[in-house]
Amino acid sequence: DRTEGERLTELAKRRGYYFGSSEAYGGTAGFYTYGPQGAALKSNVEDAWRERFTVQEGNLEIDAPTIMPEPVFEASGHLDTFDDMLVECPECAESHRADHLIEDNSDLEDAETLSLEEAAEEIAALDLVCPNCGAELAGQSVDNFNLMFETNIGPGSSDPGYLRPETAQGIFVEFPRIKEYARNRLPFGVTQVGRAYRNEISPRKSIVRTREFTQAELEQFIDPERDEPDLSAVEDVAVLLYPATEQQKDDGDYIETTIGAAVEDGSIGNAWLGYFLGIAQEWYERVGVDMDRFRFRQHLAGERAHYSSDCWDAESEVDGDWIEIAGFSYRSDYDLSKHAEYSEEDYTVFRQYDEPKTVERAVVDPDMSVLGPKFGGAAGDVKDALERLAERDPDAFDGDEVTVEVDGETHTVETDVTNFAVEEQTINGEHITPHVVEPSFGVDRTVYTLLAHAYEEDEVDDEERTYLSLSPEVAPRDVGVFPLVSNVPELVDLADEIVDDLRAAGLSVVYDDSGSIGRRYRRQDEVGTPFCITVDRDGLESDGETTVTVRERDSGRQIRVPVSALADELGAVRGG
Ligand code: GAP
Repeated sequence: DRTEGERLTELAKRRGYYFGSSEAYGGTAGFYTYGPQGAALKSNVEDAWRERFTVQEGNLEIDAPTIMPEPVFEASGHLDTFDDMLVECPECAESHRADHLIEDNSDLEDAETLSLEEAAEEIAALDLVCPNCGAELAGQSVDNFNLMFETNIGPGSSDPGYLRPETAQGIFVEFPRIKEYARNRLPFGVTQVGRAYRNEISPRKSIVRTREFTQAELEQFIDPERDEPDLSAVEDVAVLLYPATEQQKDDGDYIETTIGAAVEDGSIGNAWLGYFLGIAQEWYERVGVDMDRFRFRQHLAGERAHYSSDCWDAESEVDGDWIEIAGFSYRSDYDLSKHAEYSEEDYTVFRQYDEPKTVERAVVDPDMSVLGPKFGGAAGDVKDALERLAERDPDAFDGDEVTVEVDGETHTVETDVTNFAVEEQTINGEHITPHVVEPSFGVDRTVYTLLAHAYEEDEVDDEERTYLSLSPEVAPRDVGVFPLVSNVPELVDLADEIVDDLRAAGLSVVYDDSGSIGRRYRRQDEVGTPFCITVDRDGLESDGETTVTVRERDSGRQIRVPVSALADELGAVRGG
């Protein structure tokens, strides 16, 4: 009567998918090592993601460091706001995530939207106890806990650095350079696949919530007024959505709709979200997520991350629980504006007009003119510039004067509009800060879902068997090769030759000559190897061409195939 998750964890350990790391020293919660099968499956998932979201989309991939200096996370807001709610047990000192405790013991689904005080009240009202030792938690204070891992860069305690909590910041910080590679033309997308680190209060469910994990992220940079996505390929994709309004949420129903209908009334940014939901669903189906156990869920305003103005999750079901496997967020110009504000770099691109425009532009006294370049030259009038300055630095204003520091010099400018003459000017474009639409995939959660959805039990020849019906595109091994018996040199030699040929053709091959053929099949069934080849005497002795049997994993069906056709046939299946 084990749960799906427990059966999976047991199989994962036995067959080399994943296991808790550093167990020789007692282990550390929230860290996992992928064994030989898991590492291969994960790397195939990453390759399939790259193929779809980098190559097919014509995007640019980068590979940034996992440690970044403190100012990056001051600008991004992570230092201030990347917190979870923590409550500590007064008896055993175990830390718990307050919102998870509340959700596990009530009907509340989004306890993370509670304030610290509300969470403490809820804990008292529900009479919650420590899951570790049973002590009462009522009366305990609930605190914010920042999830970033801190470190020092260089000897001594000189410069603090942080392990990145998302790969995305590496893309945003480098935007001024990357935009040059994209020839300063929107729209373009930048991807990154790599590790992210979060000091999770309570890691959960093996590789689902860990402290070190892999993300595959795409940052799509757009002009929010111009760059409509081409929805034609996805508008008819049928999706199951969790509605966004409070009322619909109260009704609790998921709705069946299409991507086209779901984004009909939204902004260009929302249309891009819809585009990514559509291609993500198709990609998940392609790599083997069970579409009956998959859905999208839109966040309510209070649930969104600090940078997000609209957000959807892709969710998969395992053990009756829905897991967030990817987040799709409309980050507007939040990140690029923040980095522009905190650094000296230019995070804008030039929006070229179709036709030159005549605009009123304030021509200013010499002091004021230094503001021009800071505010993107021609854009808007001086009043607009002052408003933008006020947003950045309210303290700069003193009565009717504004004080600004440019290149180390302080300038005081009167804000009286009569200071400026207004002239007509013809301009060809303006500088804008691009908006960002971000699909962010958790690779480990994808791996977990694929394994859970591929896990099957049936009976073959009156014997129970377990097999993983993984798609050939991501399965860690492509084929097993077995000589029927290991003491007949001709069979062993031919099996060796086939192994060499298939490896040379780029396939991942397992050779196995120990135990009965039935046991060897079962072993590969549990690994999820789609095909097994058995070399027997009948094949050697057939007229004309030498043949072998090829057995398909899920059906157990066997056919005879000429040795000369193996590499092409199996290669074609693997490629989809
Ligand atoms: N850049 C956006 C971002 O990081 P997120 O929703 O916090 O958004 C994106 O994370 C995805 O990363 C999640 O949907 C999930 O699949 C994965 N993820 C987040 N935290 C994780 C953890 N502790 N362990 C494993 N995967 C995690």
